[in-house]
Formats: sequence, structure tokens, C-alpha cells
Amino acid sequence: MTKQVFPGLEGVAIAESSISFVDGQKSRLEYRGIGIDELGEHSHFEEVCLLLLNGSLPGQKELDEFRAKLVDARALKGGVIDLIKCLPKEGHPMDALQAAVAAVGMFYPGRHGMTPAEQRDSCVRLIAKIPTILAAFQRMRQGDDPIPPGDDLSHAANFMYMLTGEVPDEFTERTLDVALVLHADHTMNASTFAGRVVGSTLADPYCVVSSALGALSGPLHGGANEEVLKLLQAIGTIENVRPTIERMIANKEKIMGFGHRVYKTMDPRAVILKQRAAQLAQRSGNPLFPLAVEVEKVVIEHYGAKGIWPNVDFYSGLVYSEMGIPPDCFTPVFAIARVAGWLAHWLEQLDGNRIYRPTQVYTGPHEQPYVPIEQRR
Ligand code: ACO
Repeated sequence: MTKQVFPGLEGVAIAESSISFVDGQKSRLEYRGIGIDELGEHSHFEEVCLLLLNGSLPGQKELDEFRAKLVDARALKGGVIDLIKCLPKEGHPMDALQAAVAAVGMFYPGRHGMTPAEQRDSCVRLIAKIPTILAAFQRMRQGDDPIPPGDDLSHAANFMYMLTGEVPDEFTERTLDVALVLHADHTMNASTFAGRVVGSTLADPYCVVSSALGALSGPLHGGANEEVLKLLQAIGTIENVRPTIERMIANKEKIMGFGHRVYKTMDPRAVILKQRAAQLAQRSGNPLFPLAVEVEKVVIEHYGAKGIWPNVDFYSGLVYSEMGIPPDCFTPVFAIARVAGWLAHWLEQLDGNRIYRPTQVYTGPHEQPYVPIEQRR
């Protein structure tokens, strides 16, 4: 029987999963059956972590205990800080995050432990430490000392505090918290699949998360948010939007922050992030926001009927830049949230695990002679 190839695995289900659900026609995303519009309004990141990891919303005691464990696990060992200090300042923070996460595992000899308690400790450690790693790298590369984590701040507020040295105002904290909720999981995307593949080999969770980080870093995936800001800055003025976008369309260039394998209408996360970006721009007068709205209008005019609409990355960069987060930290901030989903998928993968070992359609030659080097042309 001829084997069929599915480029990009489009339409291929690689696992059963009960973690999240997307309806790309109806612009609907659910975590464990709950819509992200509801979660974005009423929940917060710490609660969403438990929802994803456990399958249901936690009770107060469970939530308090989880929060306390996260706070306890925020600090980095001196060896990890030394390692981050040695990384090139001009290196990308996504690479620093990937390297440091892989290294963090080496400081925990029990990382291979697979009892439920050991798995849970690893999950807490990874969720807690990623913001600390990112903030430490960002500060050290600009010549500042890392700021130790606070113990009375939320996950979102503590990250901003470690990054800037200031506790954020309530609106900024809530905006980042909502962004983390919206980015926490998204069905079988490239980074989640990468993590599940590595998890299926029974590699430890630090390897799982570092491989997922590598997959997320690419511009076709999480890296698009940084590219969006570059595009908006290059366009510069409202008058320049239409000619630039139409030239890109004529040249068949990809417009970053648009299009999605699943969504054929506006990504529901982009709807919420656009509202937040509008509120932030109202406070600051950021000229890039109206420009982004105009880009959205022109792209939808040309591509809407083809199912190419803004995705989560289109407005997230604007939101983060308004908070003073540097552009090359946008994708790492995405990772601060997505680690919760990766770990939920890791646990799900281990339950009834079978190693991923797909096949291929071989197109090369057979039975070739070995030619000694001096006879090769
Ligand atoms: N700009 C212009 N054309 C696009 C875009 C875009 N952003 N996205 C898709 N298209 C076009 C393609 O050129 C292709 O056209 P064709 O059929 O005429 O050849 C068609 O739409 C299908 O696109 P594919 O790239 O095959 O779609 P796929 O599902 O493989 O890729 C992806 C999805 C990677 C998100 C794609 O839309 C893209 O590259 N977008 C820009 C990068 C981006 O924003 N990535 C973030 C996605 S969200 C996330 O990962 C967190």
C-alpha cells in the first residue's frame, strides 16, 4: 500500500486530549471545557495552571497551597544565575530561556522521578522559575543585578517586579495576567507536539519544556509577535499602511500575526488582546495601536475571505510593549504562560504513553556502491 504524506500533519490527530478545544470557524477556545472569554474575565493564571494540570477548577485550599509552592520555587540556585550571567548579552532571550531551563534540570537529581508527587514538583518548579530566568537574563544583559522574586505578589506582578524593579499598577498586572491566561494552552500546536514527542521518550520534564521552547521560538509560531512590532514600526504612519501591506500582498510575503492552521476567522485571543491594547493605548497615546487597527482592516479586506485573520500574536506585542517589555522578550513572555499547557500535555502523554515513531516515504536511491574518496568526483 502506498504511504501518504501529510505536509505539516494537517488534519492528522496524533493523540486524544481533554485539555483544550478550538473551534476555528466559531472563534472558540476552551480549557477543560471553559471558554477563554470567561476565564479571561473571572480567572487568573495560577488558577488556570491548576485547571490545565488537574482537569478541573481548584478549591480555595488547593489554590492557596499551589500559590505558596509557586512562590517557594521562584528563586534560582546560584549556579543557574552564574550560568545565565555567562550567556552572550546579544543572544536572544528565547535561547537563554531554553538553555537555562535545560540546565535547571541538572540541579535537581530527582528530575527523572515519575511518581505523581515528583512530577508535580517538576511542574511547579518549571512554572515558577521561567519568569525568574527571563527577568534575570534581561536585567543582567543590560548590566543590572537580577532582582530576587517577591513572595507576596501574583505570578504576573512578580514577573514585572523582577523585570523592572517596580510593582506594577493594578491595570498592568491584570492585563499581563489576562494575557497569560489566554496563552496558557492551545491544543496540538507545534511546540506542544514537540514537547509531547520528547515526553514520549520518557525524557525528563526540563528536556520536554526546553524542546517546546525551541519550537515556540520560530517566527511561524510564537516568534511572530516580535515580528509584528517590527512591521508596525517600519510602516510608521497610517498613510503608509495600505501601500506597504498591498506591496507585501503583491510580493506574496507573509504578514506576521495573521493566519492560522485552525482559525479561519478572528482568533478569540486576539479579540480580547485588541481590547486590552486599545485600553493601554488610550492611557499612553501609543501611535502604533491605530496603525495596527488599520493593518488589520487592510489585511482582512484582501485576505478575510481566504480565512486569514489576526491571530494571538498580532496584538500581544502591542500589549507587552506598552508595559515596557522589550520586543525580544515577547515570545519568552508567551512561554511564561504556555509552560502550563506543555506540562499538562506532558502528564497526559505519560498516561498510556507510547513513543512517537512515525514513518516516512523514502525517495532516495537503493543499492549504491561505496566509492573510495580518491575516486569521487
Ligand atoms: N500572510 C499572507 N498569506 C498568508 C498568511 C499570512 N500571514 N498566512 C497564510 N497565508 C496564505 C499562504 O501563503 C497560503 O496561500 P496559498 O494557498 O495561496 O499558497 C495559505 O494562506 C495557507 O497558508 P499556510 O502557510 O499553508 O498555512 P499553515 O496552516 O501551514 O500556516 C501559519 C499557518 C504558519 C500560522 C501561517 O498562517 C503564517 O505563516 N502566519 C504568519 C506567522 C504567524 O503569525 N504565526 C503565528 C501563528 S499563532 C501561533 O503560533 C502562536
